[in-house]
Amino acid sequence: VRCIDWADGAVRLIDQTALPAEERWVVITDPDELVDAIRRLAVRGAPALGAAGALGVALAARRAAGDSRAGNGARETAAGGAGRYEREIRDAAARLRGARPTAVNLGRGVDRALGRLGDGPDAVLAEARAILDEEAKACRTIGERGADLLQADRPLRLLTHCNTGWLATVEWGTALGVVTVLHERGLVERVYADETRPLLQGARLTAFELAALGVDHRVVVDGAAPSLIARRLVDGVVVGADRIAANGDVANKVGTYPLALAAARAGVPFVVAAPESTVDVGTPAGDAIEIEERDPVEVGPGPAYNPAFDVTPHDLVTAVVTERRTVRLSEGDTL
Ligand code: MRU
Repeated sequence: VRCIDWADGAVRLIDQTALPAEERWVVITDPDELVDAIRRLAVRGAPALGAAGALGVALAARRAAGDSRAGNGARETAAGGAGRYEREIRDAAARLRGARPTAVNLGRGVDRALGRLGDGPDAVLAEARAILDEEAKACRTIGERGADLLQADRPLRLLTHCNTGWLATVEWGTALGVVTVLHERGLVERVYADETRPLLQGARLTAFELAALGVDHRVVVDGAAPSLIARRLVDGVVVGADRIAANGDVANKVGTYPLALAAARAGVPFVVAAPESTVDVGTPAGDAIEIEERDPVEVGPGPAYNPAFDVTPHDLVTAVVTERRTVRLSEGDTL
């Protein structure tokens, strides 16, 4: 099952805000409804956002093509009609791209789909579907590679943050894909899942996925996680990423950086599992990554500051595992 897909001329996605209480699938035909779904985290996680961005452009292209066929805005010249068709799609694309700033995949998905605009709406959709297939395939390889890296002669106690499974990635998962492969190899003793304040992607979504996989797990409050590492209750930390800068700095859900600090101090591997589509060589270092600030209301009723991501400096990252390579940053490898 994919968390987001194209079905019967529409985008179909599982509303992650309702999980785990309810498995609610929503059907979206309007690109601006998809913008809203992205903003409220009904669809979330970097690779899934890439898919959403591309599918959103496909929706916009179909609508615009329907509009021009129906003669809306009539009396335009053929050239004027084409201009309007393209403008409508590009405006929708800008709103999709702007829905969330940190995960590079969103803008990338939008741009890839836009690249096929000249070939018509079917070509735009084909490109979006190709992104979904590529992400699903990449995750399988990342899972195997990450498991090979962490492979041990005894079952491992792993710690993860946020949610990086099929819900976040179209299919299978990145960091949770690594956990899944290790579990298949009989090498997972237990997974500690950070609850991931303020929206609880760990407690709600990762726990839901781990339970479905049959992996022994415990949800821990974010504040407990570094001390678990210090107390040698964790053999490895494995997380995903929203954007990896050219120098290897990693933006991921806020609360990731303290895990990396604790892991470095304890000599525990800190592994980042992410597709190549999350590597952004156009961003030189982590300080150039825009960190999304979300509504303070998510934190609580009083005044609050709510940055949704943090940046882990590359020297704290043992390795970045993608579908193509295992980059041992701590040993001096570069991306
Ligand atoms: O705000 P979210 O839930 O979209 O944040 C998601 C994360 O930080 C994930 O760890 C990251 O996107 C990797 S998903 C494989």
